Amino acid sequence: MAETVALLGGGVIGGGWAARFVLNGFDVRLYDPDPDAERTVAAMVDNARRAYRRLTLAPLPAEGALTLVATPEEAVQDVSFVQESAPEREELKRGLLAAASRAAVPDAIFASSTSGLLPTRLQAAMTHPERFTVAHPFNPVYLLPLVELCGGERTVPETIERAADVYRGLGMRPLIVRTEVDAFVADRLLEALWREALWLVAEDVATVAEVDDAIRFGAGLRWASMGSFLSYRIAGGEAGMRHFMEQFGPALELPWTKLTAVPELTDELLDKIVAQSDAQAGGRSIGELERVRDDCLVSVIHGLRSHDQGAGAVLAAYERALFAAAPAAPAAEDDAPLRLHTAVVQPEWIDYNGHAHESRYLQMFGDATDALLRHVGVDLDGGSSYFTVETHLSHVGEARAGERLGVTTQLLGHDEKRLHVFHSLHRSDDGALVATAEQMLLHVDTRAGRASAAAPELLERIARITGVHAALPRPERAGRAVSLAPRARR
Ligand SMILES: NC(=O)c1ccc[n+]([C@@H]2O[C@H](COP(=O)([O-])OP(=O)(O)OC[C@H]3O[C@@H](n4cnc5c(N)ncnc54)[C@H](O)[C@@H]3O)[C@@H](O)[C@H]2O)c1
Repeated sequence: MAETVALLGGGVIGGGWAARFVLNGFDVRLYDPDPDAERTVAAMVDNARRAYRRLTLAPLPAEGALTLVATPEEAVQDVSFVQESAPEREELKRGLLAAASRAAVPDAIFASSTSGLLPTRLQAAMTHPERFTVAHPFNPVYLLPLVELCGGERTVPETIERAADVYRGLGMRPLIVRTEVDAFVADRLLEALWREALWLVAEDVATVAEVDDAIRFGAGLRWASMGSFLSYRIAGGEAGMRHFMEQFGPALELPWTKLTAVPELTDELLDKIVAQSDAQAGGRSIGELERVRDDCLVSVIHGLRSHDQGAGAVLAAYERALFAAAPAAPAAEDDAPLRLHTAVVQPEWIDYNGHAHESRYLQMFGDATDALLRHVGVDLDGGSSYFTVETHLSHVGEARAGERLGVTTQLLGHDEKRLHVFHSLHRSDDGALVATAEQMLLHVDTRAGRASAAAPELLERIARITGVHAALPRPERAGRAVSLAPRARR
């Protein structure tokens, strides 16, 4: 049975938490006094489903159920994890946490999404305040991995550790803030930027669109992979960080490093920002902007994944955990072609011809090869992998949106470094052949970065399967070359 978590508040952030928990297989009990919450949270979960279809092909657990309840007490009944995302008002949060904590089991973790309120003050009226922590996420919660954890004076370390484990399981990256400080680390940085952005707009130095351009065409691109300090280290050149700091030391005395002016939020400033923001949005609705934002975030995270950096490294670890936790594929017997991978053709895979774009066939075969490597026991974390060095793809039928497909895999041969593989992609409904891929894989010692012989125990497992598969009929398309010449009859 799926584990149940409680959410208090289902606005922008609570809705994002609902999506992350539900898509990771948790049942969610949510309390929000707003009668419209059910609709807005459901819309948020839909956004997240769309984003996850693009984000990963790893086997997510079956979705959890989302239930809205009438009181905070009902939400927290018998759950071991509570995430509070009510409005940012200290008195309201303190009262809500106090009441909910009285109704919860004593060791249930209580985490608050507050952007900057101090945990010592929030936990003050709770029963068992030791199980409280701030857990500050970023919007959209279902895509951005960062969550800042900060305990108060009465929080015990075990609470932070338990909360961090829960968030890691959701594909997130906990950052433990060791010193209790207003607005933690990330919001202090964001506030500094925001304060200055408002001043620039208030003083007519720049419009809101120009401020955004100053971020997104420059440092904003760097920040996702390197943050600030590592970027500056590189900017110091060969001489590194000390040189950079010495060079820029005198600048710390210049007036612009001491900017702290906060413009007053007058009606005039508010009108100006709203008008400029309307012009910047160019008539695009919030829904449209959310989709553009999510698609771009997914692309950035995928880019980072290929370099094992930042949020991309977090996604890669999350996917490895999902594959490891997935139930073993049925019928993975070695005495028939292996059935190790299935896929559903996603609407966004479809090109202008009405069937899946050709890159998606290679993606499905690549995933089947990954499944094969897991099946034979390649120890990816142990520095051993197979790289694909050659692929011959044949298209036989069309894969249309929503169709369920399955790959069968036959090992045609191997030696100590190479593995000769033949995949067939079938429609699950009627068994029709859709495509085939013949591949040569090369064993690589990933730590040394070169081809190498596979370990004897791995070769033994491969040899057993290759031996059994040798008795199967050779696939008709095996060994074909791309050619205009008439096909030679076998
Ligand atoms: N918006 C962000 O970018 C962001 C980022 C990180 C953290 N946060 C923090 O998350 C929390 C929620 O912010 P938000 O942006 O989702 O605000 P929001 O206004 O979108 O949502 C707040 C929700 O809480 C509900 N609510 C009101 N009273 C409640 C109560 N007594 N019990 C339970 N729910 C109640 C409201 O109906 C609303 O749906 C705040 O603490 C905020 O600082 C916000």
